[in-house]
Amino acid sequence: MKKMKVEKLYRLMIVFFAFQVICFIFFIRTSTRHQEHETDKPTKVMGSSSSALGRRLSIQDGVSKQSLKMSSTTIRHLSSNPTLIEPTIICDRSHPLYDWCNLKSGSILEPNTATFFSRSSIHPLKVETIRPYPRKRDNKTMSNIREITLTTELSHSPCTIVHETPALVFSIGGFTGNLFHDFNDGFVPLFITINTLFPDQDVTLVITNYSEWWYGKYEAILPQFSNQTVINLDNQTVSHCFPSVVAGLISHGPMTINPTLIPHRKSFLDFRALLEEGYQKCLVWPPPKIKGRPRLVLVSRVGAVGRVILNQDNVIKLAQEEGFDVVVFEPSAYTYLCDVYRLMNGSHAIMGVHGAALTHSLFLQPGAAFIQVVPIGGDWLARTYFRNLAKGMKLEYIQYKIQPEESTLVDKYGKDHVLIRDPDSITATNWSALHNIYLRGQDVRLDMARFKTCLKNAYVKAKKLMEHQGLHVRRRSKIKKFIRPQVFTYTYGVM
Ligand SMILES: *[C@@H]1O[C@H](CO)[C@@H](O)[C@H](O)[C@H]1NC(C)=O
Ligand SMILES: *[C@@H]1O[C@H](CO)[C@@H](O)[C@H](O)[C@H]1NC(C)=O
Ligand SMILES: *[C@@H]1O[C@H](CO)[C@@H](O)[C@H](O)[C@H]1NC(C)=O
Ligand SMILES: *[C@@H]1O[C@H](CO)[C@@H](O)[C@H](O)[C@H]1NC(C)=O
Ligand SMILES: *[C@@H]1O[C@H](CO)[C@@H](O)[C@H](O)[C@H]1NC(C)=O
Ligand SMILES: *[C@@H]1O[C@H](CO)[C@@H](O)[C@H](O)[C@H]1NC(C)=O
Repeated sequence: MKKMKVEKLYRLMIVFFAFQVICFIFFIRTSTRHQEHETDKPTKVMGSSSSALGRRLSIQDGVSKQSLKMSSTTIRHLSSNPTLIEPTIICDRSHPLYDWCNLKSGSILEPNTATFFSRSSIHPLKVETIRPYPRKRDNKTMSNIREITLTTELSHSPCTIVHETPALVFSIGGFTGNLFHDFNDGFVPLFITINTLFPDQDVTLVITNYSEWWYGKYEAILPQFSNQTVINLDNQTVSHCFPSVVAGLISHGPMTINPTLIPHRKSFLDFRALLEEGYQKCLVWPPPKIKGRPRLVLVSRVGAVGRVILNQDNVIKLAQEEGFDVVVFEPSAYTYLCDVYRLMNGSHAIMGVHGAALTHSLFLQPGAAFIQVVPIGGDWLARTYFRNLAKGMKLEYIQYKIQPEESTLVDKYGKDHVLIRDPDSITATNWSALHNIYLRGQDVRLDMARFKTCLKNAYVKAKKLMEHQGLHVRRRSKIKKFIRPQVFTYTYGVM
């Protein structure tokens, strides 16, 4: 009796089990056909929120080339379930300046290890690491950039925060704090990357080597790149899920945007429009009034920083005689960019000795004059960086290359020293000499007769811009005495 009962029970269990299997298969088929059907079965790879991400993903990435080269098993998967695209990682490491990688599947960030895992399983396993900063060959700088890992390894960990936009991961740990580098290695590549990989699409910026200073400094323009809250990857304690991840920024070279490499042919003028829109929104003191004369901003280096114009008052007087309204701008790391934007946007010329502060010329309007004073040994830097910028921004670039007599290096070494006669032979191989001798150890004393020609040229351009803006330019009256110019520092909390 007992034995029969057990046998019966056994049979019942087998039938029941078989029924379960059939139900299960049936469930799989129907659930994949009807995407809205969301039951919490353990076989489901994605949780309800991330399956929503999966759907969005299939729209973005479903027709990628990668999905065409798939194994027969995944093809079967795909045909019955269009949301299950093959999660894969593609990397472009072919460029001398930068790498970028894309994990093309729903992803989860494990913040302690800075690793993005896939939400769907795939074989074979693929793991890519990347330091997301566009100075790939600069080993010293790159060693300071946090390494990010992308892996196709499956993670079932729950998503604490679900983002609906792809993550764009990059580091600001390189030369952050130097205005030139913040744009050259940061915002310009960010602009290029977003417009190349995510045209007409919002992203979430995920930043490593984050700094509060950086956020404060660029708070006005960050919303122009993304509508999502910026994520500081380094201090996260919870998991974040994204529909996909890109790590790394694309660069077109020093202060360069090449429109032919970007889908909608975006240029530096589009970059400027983005800045204008960002700085429109910030609350600032009204900019200084235009006094019927083109305004020249003299970017002044103060202190023992090198490349100081020793006869600055003479230069100011000369510029005033030539018809400019001169303002002196003394920037610092804490300069409030909203104010500087208005100053520059309402000016018609800028001048200064080669240095990071000339990056503020990004805020000038196209057509403004840009006088770069090039010290001995600074040819390559001047040419590579600000000439590119001026060209991209459609500024009227005027280069003033100093003569040996205008440099304090002649006082130190004499006119016939190799340092003066052939600086290129030294700067080409010795970066420490470039930095210590030519950039930090040199001040300039401009030759008034030579520089006058340069100012006259700039005045013509500046006047033209003013007229183009519909502003009346007063006739030049002979200025006899030196007018002490306004000095702008624009530091936070100080006016
Ligand atoms: C930088 O590092 C890479 C790989 O670690 C090495 O191949 C290369 O020679 C290094 N470059 C310099 C300039 O040290
Ligand atoms: C960036 O983060 C990495 C990893 O936390 C760290 O080793 C590196 O020193 C940081 N770099 C800077 C410039 O803070
Ligand atoms: C942010 O949202 C506004 C309004 O919806 C939109 O016009 C703008 O393009 C968005 N910006 C980005 C960077 O996606
Ligand atoms: C991480 O840092 C950001 C920016 O400094 C800050 O706003 C945020 O509250 C921090 N988050 C955590 C979890 O500490
Ligand atoms: C920049 O100048 C233009 C006119 O020249 C003006 O329309 C615009 O409002 C200015 N931008 C800001 C942010 O002040
Ligand atoms: C590079 O320049 C420095 C001066 O800044 C000098 O001390 C050093 O000897 C130079 N190195 C070489 C290899 O010439």
